[in-house]
Amino acid sequence: MVKIVAISGSLRIGSYNSALLRAAIEVQPQNVTVEAGSIAGIPLYNGDDEDKTGIPPEVEKLKNQIAAADGVILITPEYNNSIPGVFKNAIDWLTRPPADVPRVFNQRAFAITGASPGNFGTILAQSAWLPVLRTLGTRPWFGDKLYVSSAGKAFDASGKLVDQSVRDRLKKFLTEFAAFIEAK
Ligand code: FNR
Repeated sequence: MVKIVAISGSLRIGSYNSALLRAAIEVQPQNVTVEAGSIAGIPLYNGDDEDKTGIPPEVEKLKNQIAAADGVILITPEYNNSIPGVFKNAIDWLTRPPADVPRVFNQRAFAITGASPGNFGTILAQSAWLPVLRTLGTRPWFGDKLYVSSAGKAFDASGKLVDQSVRDRLKKFLTEFAAFIEAK
């Protein structure tokens, strides 16, 4: 069984990216478990707070969840053609303390996807994550690309992924990412 943690980079209740995460859990292929990791409750990074009170419990929980997984999918929104600050802030927290980066990130398989109501489906945000994945020593997967555009049509009002072609592509994405993980 391949265990994947998928993290949505949006805090919005009606988030398309969180809806994509739920769809990934729905369509998970055989022999693959997709579980949700959450950035909710992670505070703004402040080194003074870290010195005073250490690593917040929400950060510790997500770090341990990732460390116990075979792979991670970052499901990223796009803000101003780049990574949303809340998502980058969360990942920055996950790299504290630096001595723990190998346990959480090094050689762990990472994939990126994302959803946007616009025409380009987070292509620039996904590209903006690449230097981060590199510097953390991850094992990035570039075998498939999933840019969910026109998210207002792909998902219904309840957040269900109703576009069958996107569902099929999502399942293929998960299947091929899991094969990459297993081929290590
Ligand atoms: C956006 N949005 C956006 N979309 C996009 O495709 N490219 C972009 O550069 C931007 N820029 C941007 C900046 C800011 C500050 C906001 C708030 C929004 C729109 C964005 O894709 C949309 O709000 C999504 O719904 C955000 O993802 P969630 O919250 O639905 O997961």
